[in-house]
Amino acid sequence: MRIYVPRDAAAVACGADELAAALKVAAIARKLDIEIIRNGSRGMAWLDPLVELVTPEGRIGYGPAEPEDADSLIAAFAGDGAHKLRVGKPEEQPFLKRQTRLTFARVGIVDPRDLDDYKAHGGLQGLEKAIAIGPVAIVDEVTKSGLRGRGGAGFPTGIKWKTVADAAGPQKYIVCNADEGDSGTFADRMLMEGDPFCLIEGMAIAGLATGATKGYVYIRSEYPHAIAAMKAAIDKARRANVLGKGILGSAHDFDMETRTGAGAYVCGEETSLLESLEGKRGTVRAKPPLPAHKGLFGKPTVINNVLSLATVPIILAQGAEHYRDFGMGRSRGTMPIQLAGNLNYGGLFETAFGITLGELVDDIGGGCFTGRPVRAVQVGGPLGAYFPRELFDTPFDYEAFAAKDGLIGHGGIVVFDDTVDMRRQARFAMEFCAIESCGKCTPCRIGAIRGKETIEKIIAGKDVTRNIAIVEDLCQTMKFGSLCALGGFTPYPVLSAIRHFPEDFHGTPQRIA
Ligand code: NAI
Ligand code: SF4
Repeated sequence: MRIYVPRDAAAVACGADELAAALKVAAIARKLDIEIIRNGSRGMAWLDPLVELVTPEGRIGYGPAEPEDADSLIAAFAGDGAHKLRVGKPEEQPFLKRQTRLTFARVGIVDPRDLDDYKAHGGLQGLEKAIAIGPVAIVDEVTKSGLRGRGGAGFPTGIKWKTVADAAGPQKYIVCNADEGDSGTFADRMLMEGDPFCLIEGMAIAGLATGATKGYVYIRSEYPHAIAAMKAAIDKARRANVLGKGILGSAHDFDMETRTGAGAYVCGEETSLLESLEGKRGTVRAKPPLPAHKGLFGKPTVINNVLSLATVPIILAQGAEHYRDFGMGRSRGTMPIQLAGNLNYGGLFETAFGITLGELVDDIGGGCFTGRPVRAVQVGGPLGAYFPRELFDTPFDYEAFAAKDGLIGHGGIVVFDDTVDMRRQARFAMEFCAIESCGKCTPCRIGAIRGKETIEKIIAGKDVTRNIAIVEDLCQTMKFGSLCALGGFTPYPVLSAIRHFPEDFHGTPQRIA
């Protein structure tokens, strides 16, 4: 009997480890021979831990399962499979059925510690193709696919790689930004825990394309499960010659290792991350020089987010056209969107660009968990704008969100019901910036503190109109005068709250207790 129990951190937080142990005990008690495989999560948060039983008809899901359910589950598995937690085939769940999983094609399906399983599900085909076509054609393929940086800025990945490929120097680096710090985001973590070989393959392809022989995955310390998964996978990849000298029998060398951050949000900013990787305090460097020219240890460096790098294998394996055919406008391919906050159905929803915010929140997310109306949605992390229901027709697309003074960022969506106080959300944005600021530039270092104080005056009802004008003016200074996106983007949540929810700022709203 083969059973899957996720090892994903979210499932583990809901008791997956205890559940796996209890299933084993229950099976021994019934003298049943079982094999438990610890997979990644399928991304349906409300069903985790989702246990899956392998049957001749396919994998059948049972969830959300608790350790107390182990006995009855094992009894059901040994019998006709009927159980109150049975949800049927995971892939038949409407939430999964509506998705287009390209980057997340294997997450939740494969055993993340088994390289043979990875290969059996299409793994390493991209790297083999990359070795066959060579650096120039790889960069060309990635450029043609239209892939843009999934960390948030949406810079074309192919152009970034070409800049590094064209840069002189015997030593170049591939750095993966896995310092996923945005509120409501978890796609990087899920990918690393559920399909770590995919990230390794993407980094090796980036190395081949640019002439870089060494890679680092910079993972935040809050992700111990992802760190363990990456370390285990790197070790296996090395032993199977996917990493190391002459990878897969080619003339190319590429090796990589993990590095652990220490919990500073600003270390997700690329230059700050590089400082931290070099063993220094994580403060922002001025650009230029771009990391592509002078990055880690002053050498040409590709620095990409987990999702950007993990999308490259399928682009190489299936061809640029296959990927580019999905999406809208200049936003090509798919985006692993993370649905979080006050929602009935939260989780990972990968889909082609173009789906509207309303579809995501109302149809897929199923509205608020509290049963109250959705009032505000923050898209793109703590530096993203708040969208009211009137803007729910906005398609998920870099340019469409920018046109509404917002950003899709790393694809995180956090939903709030009608009890939210938007003045407090605006204050939180300034407070967050003040706490996380690296302190290098004045608009952010001083501005965020003054911004928080001024919004507190507004909350206290002091000289509201004048103080709103001061905050708006300060936001302009922060937006255009800050050195990096932390200070520069904090105005987005603040200004969108003032603009779209003016009733909260002028007097105490009735809805707030
Ligand atoms: P940016 O626009 O300065 O740069 C984007 C990327 O393109 C960088 O890697 C940069 O080095 C590269 N680049 C720019 N011009 C280039 C050229 N000519 N050749 C080669 N490479 C070039 O944006 P930045 O400051 O790196 O990122 C800001 C974004 O980060 C925001 O849009 C925000 O959404 C996102 N963000 C993401 C977070 C997360 O947790 N994932 C947290 C905070 C912000
Ligand atoms: Fe540092 Fe803030 Fe300036 Fe960025 S905007 S460099 S985090 S002080």
